[in-house]
Amino acid sequence: MDSLDESLKLENDMQKTLKLYNEGKPLFTRAVLEDINHHLEKNKKKVMIKDYLENEHIYDLEVPYWCADTADTVRIKYNGIEALTTLHPDGDKIPWGTRTMTITYGSHYTADNITVEKVRAAFEHQREAWEQSKTCQHLTRQLENFTPGQVVGITKIVGFALGPVTHLDSKSVCGIGPSATNALTQHMALLIIADILKERNGGRDVKCYTQDPINKGVGNEFLKTIGITPLDDPKGFLEVDDKTLVVSIHPNVSVRQVIADLQYPAAMLWDTVEEPVKREWEQKTMDDGHVTWIFPYSTDPVSSRVIRMAEQYNQLPFDDADDWFGKLTWYVRKDA
Ligand SMILES: C[S@@+](CC[C@H](N)C(=O)[O-])C[C@H]1O[C@@H](n2cnc3c(N)ncnc32)[C@H](O)[C@@H]1O
Repeated sequence: MDSLDESLKLENDMQKTLKLYNEGKPLFTRAVLEDINHHLEKNKKKVMIKDYLENEHIYDLEVPYWCADTADTVRIKYNGIEALTTLHPDGDKIPWGTRTMTITYGSHYTADNITVEKVRAAFEHQREAWEQSKTCQHLTRQLENFTPGQVVGITKIVGFALGPVTHLDSKSVCGIGPSATNALTQHMALLIIADILKERNGGRDVKCYTQDPINKGVGNEFLKTIGITPLDDPKGFLEVDDKTLVVSIHPNVSVRQVIADLQYPAAMLWDTVEEPVKREWEQKTMDDGHVTWIFPYSTDPVSSRVIRMAEQYNQLPFDDADDWFGKLTWYVRKDA
């Protein structure tokens, strides 16, 4: 294909993508996620994923030889509507074309000398600070003010991207590095929310699940000991139903766009949904002097569909006086 044909095809694909999106065609579907999950569970070597325009693409589910030096893990990449419709400044191309979901390869973080016991010690240390904190008090008060109708419909919690509980820091006094402090606190919040919901729902158990690939290994082993069931991507997404509270905090994937397509949950506690603004690519010089372009949108961008979803929920800003969570908002279904 010559370059004129290529740019006509690109223009055409973008128009088709926008038209289908505006007509309501989901970018992410349960059927495709179930199929990827099935292939991963059965240790299949390859998977076929259709793109937004129904073209078929085959991906390796084993790390291929060409990146085996640097990668040891298979990942699912979720491309929101911005990724499918934002032209790269270096020539007319869209890095991911019309692929809403793809398979990529990365390296898994491993923490040397970290054991479940060390994580538990850090967790217990941080628990004291958390239980005495203003943020914990605010959270408890906010949940106690939810109406019975709002809490009765929640039977489980699925947390996304709550961060690396094993990123302990041998140099800091108590051994907890900043990212682990946030991660441990965010997992504690999940547990306290479950406790309050249980109490308010007459003792009915509220199951807690999480999905964050960074905790694979020791992190997940620790989470199981505190009553959280860690799930591999994409099982967390598949676990969400209309009785779920989704907690998602600054994820590296488009959690809000995936959930908006898959299932409106009973409630969410996640990054505050703000009207999206058009952004431009930026150039960045890396440490080795190499200049690269930075995609202008966040890893969990707000789309028109996320805005429409948020309109179906009552909203209450989360009060994070201690700065462990960032700017979050509660969303509770208006018809609850
Ligand atoms: C910016 S960090 C936020 C961590 C933590 N919530 C915090 O506030 O410090 C992004 C997180 O997204 C997680 N993440 C990446 N891919 C994910 C996926 N497919 N599902 C869930 N979490 C994912 C990363 O492992 C990482 O912990």
